[in-house]
Amino acid sequence: MSYQEVYAEAQRDPEGFWMGAAEAIDWDRAPSKALFADNAPLYEWFADGMVNTCWNAVDRHVEAGHGDRIAIIHDSPVTHSKHEITYAELQARVASLAGALRARGIEKGDRVIIYMPMVPEALEAMLACARLGAIHSVVFGGFAASELAVRIDDCTPKCIIAASCGLEPGRVVHYKPLLDGAIEQAKHSPEFCVIFQREQEVARLEEGRDFDWHGFQYGVEDAECVPVEGNHPAYILYTSGTTGAPKGVIRHTAGHLVALNWSMRNLYDMNPGEVFWAASDVGWVVGHSYICYAPLVFGCTTLVFEGKPVGTPDAGTFWRVIQDHGVKALFTAPTAFRAIKRDDPQGALVGDYDLSSLETLFLAGERADPDTIEWAQDKLRVPVIDHWWQTETGWCIAGNPMGIEPLPVKLGSPTVPMPGYDVRILDEGGHEVPRGELGAIAIKLPLPPGCLPNLWNAEARYRKSYLEHFPGYYETGDAGYRDEDGYLFIMARTDDVINVAGHRLSTGGMEEVLASHPDVAECAVIGVADPLKGQMPMGFLCLNSGVERSEADVVADCVRLVRERIGPVAAFKLACVVSRLPKTRSGKILRATMVKIADGEDFKLPATIDDPAILDEIAEALKGLGYPR
Ligand code: COA
Ligand code: AMP
Repeated sequence: MSYQEVYAEAQRDPEGFWMGAAEAIDWDRAPSKALFADNAPLYEWFADGMVNTCWNAVDRHVEAGHGDRIAIIHDSPVTHSKHEITYAELQARVASLAGALRARGIEKGDRVIIYMPMVPEALEAMLACARLGAIHSVVFGGFAASELAVRIDDCTPKCIIAASCGLEPGRVVHYKPLLDGAIEQAKHSPEFCVIFQREQEVARLEEGRDFDWHGFQYGVEDAECVPVEGNHPAYILYTSGTTGAPKGVIRHTAGHLVALNWSMRNLYDMNPGEVFWAASDVGWVVGHSYICYAPLVFGCTTLVFEGKPVGTPDAGTFWRVIQDHGVKALFTAPTAFRAIKRDDPQGALVGDYDLSSLETLFLAGERADPDTIEWAQDKLRVPVIDHWWQTETGWCIAGNPMGIEPLPVKLGSPTVPMPGYDVRILDEGGHEVPRGELGAIAIKLPLPPGCLPNLWNAEARYRKSYLEHFPGYYETGDAGYRDEDGYLFIMARTDDVINVAGHRLSTGGMEEVLASHPDVAECAVIGVADPLKGQMPMGFLCLNSGVERSEADVVADCVRLVRERIGPVAAFKLACVVSRLPKTRSGKILRATMVKIADGEDFKLPATIDDPAILDEIAEALKGLGYPR
């Protein structure tokens, strides 16, 4: 069947299409139907089925005689180690860990926070939760203690599983003090913590609260898989919104399994037994879906890479990993390729390795700029496929269905909607705009299986953030257009979210931190274009009158404060002091105009601007920071 036929079939008969896709999943009780719409506009998929994610990701492959197949490869240039775990070994390790968690009282529905670096144990912790029906929430290691504390208070975990440390190039990330600090700051206290002690740093355990990963598994009985309802939350993953409070995206169990499994063959063109490598982090949605769940559910080998595209030790690392492990598909963010291109512009290191196993490079997480795509195509000589998705959707909204029918690539476009996504471009009034015209990108409800059904503890926020602006649609927060051939182009966010090195960050969240500085009267954070990271945050500070400290000291404080409160991942390093902020007469800060000045783009003076003279001061301050570049 062609892509057009598959897409049309999913539109014409979603029940038949998704029930068909669901046959690839092992059910404890098959669902009676696919879509549950009684509570529209909140929808659920396969709600009355009974199923277990861990069974589908691990045990069923062992049962089917594939126990010797490699499930996980850990390749860690930062610790100079590599090792492999078979499906049978993974089953034993996960059943034991789940048994130990159960022995300490973890049951179906309990929340467990996982705060770990890129080690296989992070996946094992996720799978052990899934085995018990416990709901995990993985927190990215680059977040600070206070961000962890916010998540502890929101999802109130009974247990936190962490590692003693992570390893960034040239720096040890001390997870344990961050964890202790977060628990101290949070109102909610977990009953216990499990610490995976790494040999690079052994952390101090608190008697009675903290248990050693290995020690606490001693003598416990293995846990079997607990079947859960199709609409039981598999996990909560926090992501940035407009304000500092992150949104807890919920993923339901059954739709997640069906959609991810479908995507492995149809989108990524994979077969069971082949090696899939998502070079991301388990703390992000890409890591959840394509480092952990999808490759394992589909019976592939997944690669857990603990390193960077450059500097560990050089810009040839990705090629070495592809060669050493026979990677068939690599999935990463364009920023990784920009980093490689910057260090090795000619791609000289590519020739040192045998990349014959690699068939496709997939890019996502931020706009894939044509230069980067062309460079990758030229050096790797494989199709370079951009695809667009979000934490909320959990899998690709628009992509190039390589396993159905590779469509011609158009640079700058993630190609076409995947089955089940009815993507529309709307004007402010919610009317569809003609082809080629820019508008808000919305998806007609219901979203397909695998997408968020709600936000944790925040249904009103879910409705307000996604459903209310365009009734009957899910508002993506992205703006873009569709061309004559139906190809989508994603151009910008319509909210205060910025994308730094493929990481989604809230400028509103950074403003909240800056505003808490005693010398700061008012502030604005914008995302400016950056050749490596796509965007970089930049802060403008208006100080209280009578501040005695130097402007440079306050700026340095603010940079430190964002790192302390949000974390190094915010990459907040650029800030300056200005006397006032440009605003409309009604007081709205003109952030978009500031971005245009910083990026050196033409802009129209907003008709509603209160005091145009301030733009000269902004331009002057930007010049001081080296912008436009
Ligand atoms: N734990 C702790 N700290 C982390 C971290 C983690 N897991 N990941 C990143 N950080 C820190 C970095 O060490 C850096 O700290 P520094 O300010 O002390 O240098 C800071 O957070 C900013 O990180 P990042 O924006 O990633 O910049 P970088 O200079 O370290 O690396 C790239 C730049 C492009 C190499 C890197 O961003 C990259 O590999 N990106 C790949 C894309 C990706 O994984 N995207 C995820 C979604 S698909
Ligand atoms: P996240 O939730 O962290 O995955 O970030 C999702 C956001 O990243 C989207 O809403 C887009 O703004 C951006 N994004 C992700 N993939 C792409 C892509 N292929 N092209 C353009 N923007 C993208």
